[in-house]
Amino acid sequence: MMPQGLLPTILSALLWTQAARADSVDEFVGSARIQVLNITSFWDDGALDSRIGCINAAGMLTLDDCAVFTRFDASPNTLYTKAGNCTFQNPNMPMNTDSIYGQNTPAWWCGERGDWPMYEEWYYTLNGQPYPFVCTGNIRCFFDVKAVVPVAGDALPIWTYFWGSQQMDIEAGHWRVTLLWERVDKE
Ligand SMILES: *[C@@H]1O[C@H](CO)[C@@H](O)[C@H](O)[C@H]1NC(C)=O
Ligand SMILES: *[C@@H]1O[C@H](CO)[C@@H](O)[C@H](O)[C@H]1NC(C)=O
Repeated sequence: MMPQGLLPTILSALLWTQAARADSVDEFVGSARIQVLNITSFWDDGALDSRIGCINAAGMLTLDDCAVFTRFDASPNTLYTKAGNCTFQNPNMPMNTDSIYGQNTPAWWCGERGDWPMYEEWYYTLNGQPYPFVCTGNIRCFFDVKAVVPVAGDALPIWTYFWGSQQMDIEAGHWRVTLLWERVDKE
């Protein structure tokens, strides 16, 4: 059996070569709530039933405190909420200490940027996915949360999912999730 950690990369390689069936790409615009789906494949039949929560204005996983995110039309296509721009580089956010490759990577966060160094982050989706799933960086389309379903009032960290030869799948006690861009500017 193929190690599961390889799946995102192989799928992505296939997707990049597909002709522009640009449905998901066309949808990754405007303003949206970001739903967190506990799935390990983009084509999971139960994707929309696998929701565990959504992202709040500070960029954290909650049960139902779903903030409105907006994507800048121009490069680098940052996302922002009413709190500010979103980034995985705020050193004050918790690090994913359980992950071998993600242990020095802070959780997502949206706000007024502090006095820390930061490179430009961009957010995009892949061609031909069934839904507009949020991707960032070097084809990072899966994310990593602790294996906990949020309850009302929780605000839990969400990290990018990293893997490699020493850790081919999501680390124990965590779930690999996707972020669904659910547009609100069409409602
Ligand atoms: C999330 O997905 C994992 C892996 O498929 C599964 O073991 C777990 O039960 C799921 N959690 C929920 C709340 O559905
Ligand atoms: C937010 O991001 C946009 C796009 O990258 C940038 O033009 C703007 O200066 C950023 N705002 C802040 C407060 O950093």
